[in-house]
Amino acid sequence: MGCAVRLLLPVAAKRLTTARRLSTSTSPPATAVLYDHHGPPDQVLRVAELPAAEIGDRDVCVRMLAAPINPSDLNRVEGVYPVRPPLPAAVAGYEGVGQVHALGGAVDSALLSPGDWVIPSPPSLGTWQTYIVKPASAWHRVRSDVPPQYAATVTVNPLTALRMLQHFVNLTPGDTLVQNGATSIVGQCVIQLAKLHGLRTINIIRDRPGSEEAKDKLKQLGADQVFTESQLDIKNIKSLLGALPEPALGLNCVGGNAASVILKFLRQGGTMVTYGGMSKKPVTVSTSSFIFKWSDRLSNFVCNILQLCTPSVFTNLLLEASGIDLSLRGFWLQKWMSSDKVEESRTMIDYLLDLVHEGKLKYEMELTPFSDFRLALDKALGKHGSQPKQVLKF
Ligand SMILES: NC(=O)c1ccc[n+]([C@@H]2O[C@H](COP(=O)([O-])OP(=O)(O)OC[C@H]3O[C@@H](n4cnc5c(N)ncnc54)[C@H](OP(=O)(O)O)[C@@H]3O)[C@@H](O)[C@H]2O)c1
Repeated sequence: MGCAVRLLLPVAAKRLTTARRLSTSTSPPATAVLYDHHGPPDQVLRVAELPAAEIGDRDVCVRMLAAPINPSDLNRVEGVYPVRPPLPAAVAGYEGVGQVHALGGAVDSALLSPGDWVIPSPPSLGTWQTYIVKPASAWHRVRSDVPPQYAATVTVNPLTALRMLQHFVNLTPGDTLVQNGATSIVGQCVIQLAKLHGLRTINIIRDRPGSEEAKDKLKQLGADQVFTESQLDIKNIKSLLGALPEPALGLNCVGGNAASVILKFLRQGGTMVTYGGMSKKPVTVSTSSFIFKWSDRLSNFVCNILQLCTPSVFTNLLLEASGIDLSLRGFWLQKWMSSDKVEESRTMIDYLLDLVHEGKLKYEMELTPFSDFRLALDKALGKHGSQPKQVLKF
């Protein structure tokens, strides 16, 4: 369905509110992508019809509009993700956007009306289906004047980018951060959110056909520097910084060599946050990174004080220093959101969609009709080379 038509629906649907409330007790049957056991997604996923579901008094039935295929969706199907739905007949997918189709009798119509756009918030398993029934409290109403693919994808990746920029290091305008996997949605959001806050970014991408074009695209989004991994295969990596200050924060979603180069860029006392492992290779840290990544100021201070102080004072200084050497941290959005962060995350989501609406946040996606699910899946699995994020359009 085209965007213009969809935007007309809220008004038309509102007229149906009373009728739907009185007469609808079940959802329409849904078409869904299911799996019965873990394995390669292209082998175990199947499209099937699901029977109508009951709409309880406090439930809302949503007709899904769009849902992305994220790397973690594929990892869940493979069985390598820590949180997995019960099998068999698990519906795949974790985030997405839909339109309120019908409300249970006890749902406050001041909060939600037929036609509203809603997202599951926090995200929840089973978004790759045409109709979903959940309690009203599980849905968050979002603005409907952005392209649906943005509302569908706003939680997992843009929110991760925003959260990681706020959470680990107190960055101030003028500071620099370095990230790998910069062409990912998280990476593209990091570049733009950093720019909005006066931060500079050094971006690392993998060597692949089209990497020069990818560099240009990232620069257009506001990236200060973009390097392929092979460009960083030099002795003095920091000579590439030019006028940029050494980065205080590194973001790693790749692992292997792409994580090692982040560590080489980091300033002494810097922090690297690992939030993904696209290369499926471990993070290896050189011994020298741990020993010699003190802050310059402290090293100089310790050297000077060595000449003046007693051995016990020197020991205390070393202990203090241990608090500010290299930090290796991890981030998992699902863990952060499952605590008491639902309201905070919804405010952040609204902020991110406002940025989209203002044209300040954009990223590459491809909307693929649900009927072409197999093609979208193959693209997301990398079978067609590097592809934009696949978003299923129901
Ligand atoms: N911890 C969390 O809470 C959290 C939340 C959100 C996302 N993530 C993780 O963040 C990462 C990015 O997610 P996304 O949805 O933003 O990604 P995406 O848009 O689907 O893009 C995939 C990215 O991975 C790169 N890539 C694919 N295969 C690779 C390989 N073998 N080696 C190196 N790079 C490879 C791609 O590079 P090309 O452009 O060269 O193809 C692209 O940059 C994923 O690892 C995801 O699981 C974690």
